[in-house]
Amino acid sequence: MKKKILVTGGTGYIGSHTVVELQNSGYEVVIIDNLSNSSADVVDNIEKVSGIRPAFEELDCLDYAGLDALFTKYPGIEAIIHFAASKAVGESVEKPLLYYRNNLVSLINLLDLMPKHGVGGIVFSSSCTVYGQPDVLPVTEKAPIKKAESPYGNTKQINEEIVQDTVASGSPINAILLRYFNPIGAHPTALLGELPNGVPQNLVPYITQTAMGIREKLSVFGDDYNTPDGSCIRDFINVVDLAKAHVIAIDRILNGKQKEKVEIFNVGTGRGLSVLELIHIFEESTGVKLNYQIVSRRAGDIEQVWADPAFANEELGWKAEATIEDTLRSAWAWQLKLRERGIQ
Ligand code: WQD
Repeated sequence: MKKKILVTGGTGYIGSHTVVELQNSGYEVVIIDNLSNSSADVVDNIEKVSGIRPAFEELDCLDYAGLDALFTKYPGIEAIIHFAASKAVGESVEKPLLYYRNNLVSLINLLDLMPKHGVGGIVFSSSCTVYGQPDVLPVTEKAPIKKAESPYGNTKQINEEIVQDTVASGSPINAILLRYFNPIGAHPTALLGELPNGVPQNLVPYITQTAMGIREKLSVFGDDYNTPDGSCIRDFINVVDLAKAHVIAIDRILNGKQKEKVEIFNVGTGRGLSVLELIHIFEESTGVKLNYQIVSRRAGDIEQVWADPAFANEELGWKAEATIEDTLRSAWAWQLKLRERGIQ
């Protein structure tokens, strides 16, 4: 019998790619999502990609009674991958309570209900944002946690602590916290990808929308940083590679391979690329010219961060594989597909 995994936020960007990888690896998936930043037709596209339709329930993780009923309706869930969260840094500064409520209470509800329903494992979506500007690069999991730059970032830090404290209290839960760097790209079929609401905040959706003519010009936020070309440096991780890390984390929990009850892994490529480098690679690998201009720095940006993924490479046997060129081409193919579908 297939092992059953609950994926919260499973119609979202990283969630949908992960559902497909779980299905490809023989897991049965139940998705819950409140559709606040995604749509139910993602379930159709998941089915087109994997050939399997996952169970889907529209449900908010803030709804404790609803979650309780969900675990009763789908007995035998063995582990959860918890993606569902609000994730816009700027919005979190304006609406901190929305962020604290959504992101903290959702996790609390799940951790609270897991023992009652015999769910033993959870993989949590954390972020490299917990490192702030690291003193040493590439950054390892042992680097100190810096004061968060935004309420969003703070929710990731607090949620890591909530998991640690819950497990330390003796709750029968095994957890893996995955600290993502900058996920980009789309599924090679162009059936799944990132669909930002309104004006994109993140770099790659802004690049592809500018290339498409939806946005007039890309603004590069700062070229006076202490980096070789003056623009910020990030570790851009392909979303399918990232999705695969989740499947490995689930396998590891369910097969009792963990060395600690809570483990933390960086999920990045180990390669830092500047914003300007990324723009040029996009232009070269797609053949599309980008209209861009340098503007002043964006408040709250970290100058440079990239992962030391050695621990994930060795312990999980996971490694980022996609080339940056293929990844950017996949983002562009997804943008073209959206136009075909009349979405943007
Ligand atoms: C990347 C670089 C910008 C847009 C944030 C969160 C992080 C993670 C991903 C999830 C920066 C520059 C961007 C633009 C630009 N979580 N940029 N022009 O800020 O590294 O990380 O998103 O949801 O937790 O903090 O990602 O894509 O916004 O920016 O020049 O129009 O691109 O200044 O240097 P960031 P990003």
